[in-house]
Amino acid sequence: MIVSIMNILIILTLCVWQAWSLSIPLIITKGTHYEVGHDVGASFKDRIQNFCNEFSILNDVLIPYYHMRKGRKAYDDLLNVANATFPQIVDEIQGLADGAELPFYKVFLLHIKSEIQLLLRKQFDPECTDIALNYVDQKTQRQWTIQAHNEDTDPIIGKYAYITDAYIIDPTGKYPTERFTAYTYPGSVPGNAFAFNADGMLFTMNAVFPKKVETDNIARYIANRMLLGCRSVSDVFSFLDKYGSASGFSLNFVDATTPLADQMLYNVEVGPGMKQYSNATVPLANNKADGHCYHFNMYKHFNISQFNDTSTQHRSARAAKLAVPADLTGIYNILGDTADPDYPIFRNGKKKDGAATVSTAIFDLVNGTLSIYLDNPKMSQGPVIVLQLPKKKIWN
Ligand SMILES: *[C@@H]1O[C@H](CO)[C@@H](O)[C@H](O)[C@H]1NC(C)=O
Ligand SMILES: *[C@@H]1O[C@H](CO)[C@@H](O)[C@H](O)[C@H]1NC(C)=O
Ligand SMILES: *[C@@H]1O[C@H](CO)[C@@H](O)[C@H](O)[C@H]1NC(C)=O
Ligand SMILES: *[C@@H]1O[C@H](CO)[C@@H](O)[C@H](O)[C@H]1NC(C)=O
Ligand SMILES: *[C@@H]1O[C@H](CO)[C@@H](O)[C@H](O)[C@H]1NC(C)=O
Repeated sequence: MIVSIMNILIILTLCVWQAWSLSIPLIITKGTHYEVGHDVGASFKDRIQNFCNEFSILNDVLIPYYHMRKGRKAYDDLLNVANATFPQIVDEIQGLADGAELPFYKVFLLHIKSEIQLLLRKQFDPECTDIALNYVDQKTQRQWTIQAHNEDTDPIIGKYAYITDAYIIDPTGKYPTERFTAYTYPGSVPGNAFAFNADGMLFTMNAVFPKKVETDNIARYIANRMLLGCRSVSDVFSFLDKYGSASGFSLNFVDATTPLADQMLYNVEVGPGMKQYSNATVPLANNKADGHCYHFNMYKHFNISQFNDTSTQHRSARAAKLAVPADLTGIYNILGDTADPDYPIFRNGKKKDGAATVSTAIFDLVNGTLSIYLDNPKMSQGPVIVLQLPKKKIWN
């Protein structure tokens, strides 16, 4: 009897701890693509293995589909095009799988889950909210240039996520050197959440749900990973001009090394196929109404056939009712809002779609910082860490 009460107490303590744990591990690693993947996999082997055991989308959707003829064909197509176009990223994934002691196909399936879920037309990932603010307050003459992002996903991803700080070298000189810091989903290469690199390029990503999927093109997560290597705004557009996407994504990006008076926040909506994208910007304005933009998980400016996302409809309707942000507090008031009973903006994993806001990223381009929150930024006593963004490009 005593033992069972003790057990219950321990389980309760664990539950409370998990729900309120304000910690996330960080790995700092340098090596080839394969070595960096391997370091991350080996360091977080338990987290990645536990994640694979507990992640129902992998076990109930992706793996069964892989064992069907249609699913296996989609897997083979997506792997072949990735390996032919960006073999270094496939190496990185191989390293990750080897380091975590998992079969390659399981880890690769995690990288094509957006495409498979769209092909199956079910169980879309719960995804993110972004606010871009870029204006000069005429009263105080203070500039606010902020890219803010709620990372919303399955709570199990937040439980096992980590931050990767990678310095990727290639002794053969075939692939460019890369250096970036990224919030990373367990068992996936970085790029699909939020990140910045040594050239001051910062990226946040929103999922979108196009109706078409082109499995002879680059899977979204692999394209997102490649974007981390872009050293300038024009690199991003060159990448988008040169390569296509199997499904799509909405990319928010900023060059932190641009002089403040010229600062511009970009949003690109990418669709399936080659060169399928639309570019929108938030240039510096002299009032908050012109200098702000929200992004959820539906295409806004790219005319494309897409699935309705009920959560996006709720979150965007709620954000429209709240005051346009004039400062950080205004941003926190939106990103931390819990008023919608079914699909709130700040999500706790207990509402209709089971999504949780596992992290909030505040890129402040005036201060040159990235602040990361693991709790509700509206209620929080502060970020878990504040990282410095590069002030100038180190490579060129
Ligand atoms: C990728 O392509 C290379 C070269 O053709 C091949 O050796 C390797 O096995 C492929 N990797 C995967 C995971 O298919
Ligand atoms: C993206 O938008 C900006 C601002 O309107 C513009 O300067 C730039 O040329 C556009 N780039 C592309 C590739 O459309
Ligand atoms: C969007 O695309 C569809 C189909 O290509 C077309 O019929 C429609 O007129 C377009 N809408 C806008 C606003 O461009
Ligand atoms: C998607 O949502 C819009 C706006 O709520 C609605 O007008 C439209 O009919 C919906 N489309 C589908 C296919 O459900
Ligand atoms: C930027 O710096 C100002 C002044 O020190 C501070 O009030 C503000 O909180 C900082 N921004 C962030 C995101 O921490």
